[in-house]
Amino acid sequence: MDTNVQKRRENKKSLRVKVISLGNAEVGKSCIIKRYCEKRFVPKYLATIGIDYGVTKVQVRDREIKVNIFDMAGHPFFYEVRNEFYKDSQGVILVYDVGLRESFDALDSWLTEMKQEMGSQANMENIIFVVCANKVDLTKRRVVDESEGRLWAESRGFHYFETSAQSGEGINEMFQAFFSSITDMCENGGKRPTPEVNVGFTKEQADTIRRIRNSKDSWDMLGVKPGATREEVNKAYRKLAVLLHPDKCVAPGSEDAFKAVVNARTSLLKNIKFHQKPTND
Ligand code: GTP
Ligand code: MG
Repeated sequence: MDTNVQKRRENKKSLRVKVISLGNAEVGKSCIIKRYCEKRFVPKYLATIGIDYGVTKVQVRDREIKVNIFDMAGHPFFYEVRNEFYKDSQGVILVYDVGLRESFDALDSWLTEMKQEMGSQANMENIIFVVCANKVDLTKRRVVDESEGRLWAESRGFHYFETSAQSGEGINEMFQAFFSSITDMCENGGKRPTPEVNVGFTKEQADTIRRIRNSKDSWDMLGVKPGATREEVNKAYRKLAVLLHPDKCVAPGSEDAFKAVVNARTSLLKNIKFHQKPTND
């Protein structure tokens, strides 16, 4: 075959992509990358200073992908260094530590920082996100369960994987799914393809379940002011029941959230006297 034709074909099949890692300090971003690229685990914590850069080549179907990995430092101190590197990413690995709730809660602020730094050209729709619930090997200290993490990720159209950089669990599967989705997106003209399988629940349902889990008391859970009337409690309850009823909602954790709402309503009604304003309920 003509060598130029051959070269052109090879070029068409090769891709260059940029991915970044995000998440609080010490959640295991660098170790996840090291486990995949170097097949090893380093137990000692060596904080990333600013950014670590590496390149790896992977094969996805008939394409060779050259992946430029920018491993970000999670410490707030490095914000000034980090902020330069958000632009032009096709993929983001978002990591939290399943034993540290604040690292899970911080995922929203990592997305906010990214959006902010990408400025007006920001199009988060055309970036593949994968969420790693990391350190699942440390089962005894786990505080964020799978359904909670999966709900957060899938309600945003992100992949979700349970990983351990220490044991290697989930790491190859996560990277394979990640690179394969990035390749699909590049083949789809740089647009994230609409998922074939609908997750089957809405963002409103996902956000409500999350709010219920994090509520501080029964008033807060129903979303009413302390001292609300029976009527207000019942109204709030009915709204949540319609949204979360197990017959209607398949989001992970919806059954527990529904039960919690039923219990909250029962305990509040026990203590609210009828004299406020009788209702038909
Ligand atoms: P920064 O670079 O500071 O943002 O941190 P990082 O997110 O890159 O964390 P790093 O990968 O350096 O890991 C932090 C600590 O957690 C290290 O002591 C690792 O050995 C440990 N670690 C990372 N992943 C795992 C894991 O899956 N299981 C366990 N048990 N420890 C882990
Ligand atoms: Mg690091």
